[in-house]
Amino acid sequence: MKTSTGQTVRLEDYRPTDYAIDTVNLDFRLDPTETRVAATLAVEPREDTAEGTPLELVGDGLTFVTASVDGSTLAEDAFDATPDAFILKSPPAAPFRLTIETRINPEGNSALMGLFRSSGTYCTQCEPEGFRRITYFLDRPDVLSVYTTRLEGPKDQVPVLLSNGNPIEEGELDGGRHYVVWHDPFRKPSYLFAAVAGDLAHISDTFVTASGRTVDLRIYVEKGKETRCDWAMDSLKRSMRWDEVRFGREYDLDIFMIVAVSDFNMGAMENKGLNIFNDKYILADPATATDVDYAGIESVIAHEYFHNWTGDRITCRDWFQLCLKEGLTVFRDQEFTSDERSRPVKRISDVRTLKAHQFPEDAGPLAHPVRPQTYREINNFYTATVYEKGAEVVRMLATRLGEDGFRAGMDLYFERHDGDAATIEDFIACFADATGTDLDAMLLWYAQAGTPTVTANGSWDGANHTYTLTLSQSVPATPGQPDKQPMPMPIRFGLVGPNGDDMAYDRVEGARVEGDVLMLEEAEQTVVFHGIGAQPVPSLLRGFSAPVRLRSNETSEDRLFLLAHDSDPFNRWEAAQRIAMDLLQAGTRAVRAEGDVITDPDFLRGLATIAEDASLEPAYRALALQLPAESDVFREIGEDVDPAAIAVARRTIKAAVGQALAGTLERLYGELADEGAYSPDPEATGRRALRNLALDYLVSAGADGAEARAVAHFETARNMTDRLAALSTLAMHRLPSAEAAFETYADLFAGDALAMDKWLSLQAMIPEEDNLDRVRKLMDHPAFSFSNPNRIRALIGAYATGNPVSFHRTDGDGYRFIAGVVMELDPKNPQVAARMLAAFRSWRSLEAGRRTLAKAELQRVADRPGLSTDTSDIVTRMLD
Ligand code: TRP
Ligand code: ZN
Repeated sequence: MKTSTGQTVRLEDYRPTDYAIDTVNLDFRLDPTETRVAATLAVEPREDTAEGTPLELVGDGLTFVTASVDGSTLAEDAFDATPDAFILKSPPAAPFRLTIETRINPEGNSALMGLFRSSGTYCTQCEPEGFRRITYFLDRPDVLSVYTTRLEGPKDQVPVLLSNGNPIEEGELDGGRHYVVWHDPFRKPSYLFAAVAGDLAHISDTFVTASGRTVDLRIYVEKGKETRCDWAMDSLKRSMRWDEVRFGREYDLDIFMIVAVSDFNMGAMENKGLNIFNDKYILADPATATDVDYAGIESVIAHEYFHNWTGDRITCRDWFQLCLKEGLTVFRDQEFTSDERSRPVKRISDVRTLKAHQFPEDAGPLAHPVRPQTYREINNFYTATVYEKGAEVVRMLATRLGEDGFRAGMDLYFERHDGDAATIEDFIACFADATGTDLDAMLLWYAQAGTPTVTANGSWDGANHTYTLTLSQSVPATPGQPDKQPMPMPIRFGLVGPNGDDMAYDRVEGARVEGDVLMLEEAEQTVVFHGIGAQPVPSLLRGFSAPVRLRSNETSEDRLFLLAHDSDPFNRWEAAQRIAMDLLQAGTRAVRAEGDVITDPDFLRGLATIAEDASLEPAYRALALQLPAESDVFREIGEDVDPAAIAVARRTIKAAVGQALAGTLERLYGELADEGAYSPDPEATGRRALRNLALDYLVSAGADGAEARAVAHFETARNMTDRLAALSTLAMHRLPSAEAAFETYADLFAGDALAMDKWLSLQAMIPEEDNLDRVRKLMDHPAFSFSNPNRIRALIGAYATGNPVSFHRTDGDGYRFIAGVVMELDPKNPQVAARMLAAFRSWRSLEAGRRTLAKAELQRVADRPGLSTDTSDIVTRMLD
């Protein structure tokens, strides 16, 4: 394992390799602890490479066996081989074949990068730098090669042998062994290589592409789990069709395979033709998966499938360009979900995620641009900023250029860069060229970290019939970036007239406006609308058209008016959130001053109107009725934060909402009951979401019989969505019946790891300071395992990020516990350890007492000898 020697890598230092690798032949002889890998690389010096320039291949913990060039074994002095490098001192001038044999230990691979075992199945994870744990290589995304892979092992243990591309040969060998050879005709970087070997079951289906080719589809899982793959297969077929219709992109191989494994560091991986998934994003049936799980599976399947074009066919020149594939592919999967389900509901949930994860990252010590300029450990840059803010930047392009302009730019990108390792500049140039737009300033969105604040002040001049909007923007200082420039941002807007309709205007000065999109490009712009005969209420940033914080001189009447009338569903939701946020912040101040927490009757009436409006889809109503989370309030307060006070204020206001809306909620609870068979469709999902929210509010309100009803809801539930919602309501309200329900649940689902993850998570989140004891005890429960990332995230991750009351205990024990876990985990799985540490990312925003305690724990981690680069990088930046 590498320790904290990670050197800083800089974008400006990029240069191509001295050698190209045209083809790669891999031969695996699988063995649990001594897998032998023979790699034959067809190496070629690049045009301007000086003769004899050493070839330096990188490795990571490899055991070197032997090497040859063009068939002759190399003399000892012709090369250097260490676990981390293989250097061929003076390579031939002409193209040559370099064969290197290494030995690796999949069983001992607890980092889950490279070749490892998950429940006995051999599988790989190579992005970003895992291939070097399999063989010595130019392990970087701009080295594109054609791969042929031979896998060999005992047939009884590894009957299934898979790799990228198409199978071209297979055969039986002596001693019960067999082999399969796979060939992938598409050039790819090493990070997209994959191999899987095991005793797996599969389901299969076919897909006929737009041009009439039939593609074999397969999903491989552990035996016995194949009954839970239908939704994943259905999602895959819908994704394939959607990419043809929306982006004109067809699948390109004869077979597309997905393998689900239970030990996996992240969600899933887009290896060419052989996606590997965390089984959490494949397995679903109504009894064990919630509606949220079904939606998650659909979107991760889509995301990985869409990478086939945005990631695999066109990849990244270097890891600084990670957002080129990730931001774009997130945008594409968001659009898929919007088209398949409800666009407003999807937009609201995406913005919630962005604000919950990316905004705090951007406001804290780990802030970095969408395209970072330096890194020590690239694994730490698979972040909300690269993924979610990266998607927002693509969305701004789409908003600005319109549907046709955006599609023209994408078409040009696919045409111009198919087969390339490209950059962000390449990407932006396609949109500029396809539409004749100067988009140079858009690059600032990739270069500048920090969430911009946009300030809007409007005033109506009744005498001149003008409405003047003064807009200004500023981007805050972030680590390493004290000064910022203004950035171009599309502001979708409407001027809402007294009757609730958008008002027309004669002309506008001071900004480029196209349709309902106004471009804010300067630090400050004064925009004047002429022909406005009545006082409007401006609705700005409709659909959250730019990833910014909006401040304005709107009054609470304006907000209530927008909540009732805005034609943009996003901004109706946003109006409710802003009112609630003000109440929550005032309530938090009141709690700290030992005063009363107040709710606003007008706000409660506004919410009641939404709840009762049957013309609004239930999923939307469920979102609009939810108060901002405690973590949202934490973020908005931003400094001197007391998480315990936030929790008290929110609980009080939530109870008030439940009481005020009790009649409506009772009615909804009754009306939305569903006796039919379970279906994960958006309509049924929305009804369950609203009904379960009603149940939860009624319990908050302390309504008569509410606890008994929640217990009954739990016991009679016919699907996991309802069962888990009831259990969550019981647990989060710390009701006595929760304990028995947890026991019942454990009896029902013992042995089902994914279902038990929910059980672990809910218990971890019980909002009591002392809950840390429960978490500690659960670490000894058979459902928990310290070597499986899903289990760690379910119990410890949920505690660190989902239980502010206990994690932020005033005695610092929550911090101490997480720091201890990070240090214990770091030598085993640095990637997951480093991610866990991100729970501290807002530590500087805490009130002084907690801040001191948190800092001491971070320091304790920083002082730990032998820390991995992953954890060392995070903790160093956090303390800087
Ligand atoms: N590229 C993957 C995706 O976004 C994610 C990924 C990156 C990953 N590194 C990983 C997954 C390591 C698992 C392990 O789709
Ligand atoms: Zn991705």
